[in-house]
Amino acid sequence: MVSDEKVLQVNNLQVSFRTYGGEVEAVRGVNFDLYKGETLAIVGESGCGKSVTSNAIMGLIPQPPGIIKNGHILFKGKDLTKLTKGELRKIQGVDISMIFQDPMTALNPTLTIGEQLTEGLRTHKKIGKQEAKKRAIDMLKLVGIPNPEERLKQFPHQFSGGMRQRIVIAIALICDPELLIADEPTTALDVTIQAQILELFEEIQRKKKISIILITHDLGVVAKIADRIAVMYAGKIVEIGNKREIFYTPEHPYTRGLLNSVPRLDLEDEELQPIEGTPPDLFSPPKGCPFTARCDYAMEVCDHVYPFTNKLSEAHRVDCWLQDERAKVIKNSDRVG
Ligand SMILES: Nc1ncnc2c1ncn2[C@@H]1O[C@H](COP(=O)(O)OP(=O)(O)OP(=O)(O)O)[C@@H](O)[C@H]1O
Ligand code: SF4
Ligand SMILES: [Mg+2]
Repeated sequence: MVSDEKVLQVNNLQVSFRTYGGEVEAVRGVNFDLYKGETLAIVGESGCGKSVTSNAIMGLIPQPPGIIKNGHILFKGKDLTKLTKGELRKIQGVDISMIFQDPMTALNPTLTIGEQLTEGLRTHKKIGKQEAKKRAIDMLKLVGIPNPEERLKQFPHQFSGGMRQRIVIAIALICDPELLIADEPTTALDVTIQAQILELFEEIQRKKKISIILITHDLGVVAKIADRIAVMYAGKIVEIGNKREIFYTPEHPYTRGLLNSVPRLDLEDEELQPIEGTPPDLFSPPKGCPFTARCDYAMEVCDHVYPFTNKLSEAHRVDCWLQDERAKVIKNSDRVG
């Protein structure tokens, strides 16, 4: 159940990287809220700023070369961009946890699963050895690992890929975080295991009422477990809304393009249409709408001025000039000249 309590508020987040080639404007003014018990999916093509956004929330932007140029990330009212490294460390992995794409690199090959599971509990929560072990066993049961007592003594290489990802999830959840960020958590897994991991997410959310930010390329995954969807393009959220709004009444041409480029089970013999072209270079992003060069509906204004954000419902927002009343007048009448 999603409540109306805001766990996270991201306001005008801007993150850049200073490189030899110049400044990469990776995230360019991102705004969204996250509610308790909610799953927000962030989707968009490679390089659009999904991971940089989530790493900024987790306090994982390497500075330098990264720089948070502007904005606030409020977690339960506390601005994470203003905290010292020590203050952040108390929140990371405890109140906010993150799951990365590759379970093997997330685990330490030299430590047992038990040691890795209990480390956070013992250092952050000051929980004794026996109690920590008991919690680790409960956690392994929750994520569906059989014989948890035996398994605690084993090392990562003794587990299959799917099991390792379950263990990564167990580690992320053992300190009872309020916010879980999952960056492509199922991409490295085969389809059957992917489905099992998604079911696990749903079950954990039912039991623990956590909020989840799920980053994925896979709209099938989104359709299954997201409550809301944010569509990112060239460092901006260009459309955000409830799952139904994004899937059934998408307004941004880019969102429509994304939806048209994935197969649908309910349509036979449909023609898939990949979005032609590539996203703009973020070394010098365009002043206007970044989708202009690829958009079938682009108007003169799109090239020069970034569109206002239009609120279409309580949850649905879109940045596109087509939403402007004046654009609609021109679009619906025959153009002259
Ligand atoms: N450490 C870094 N130094 C320089 N540029 C970076 C760095 N990290 C990210 N970027 C740039 O920031 C932009 C956004 O990257 P990000 O990793 O957030 O993309 P993404 O949406 O997660 O893509 P993917 O789907 O491929 O994971 C890209 O242009 C990327 O090259
Ligand atoms: S603002 Fe213009 S270019 Fe951008 S998506 Fe809308 S119509 Fe297309
Ligand atoms: Mg990424």
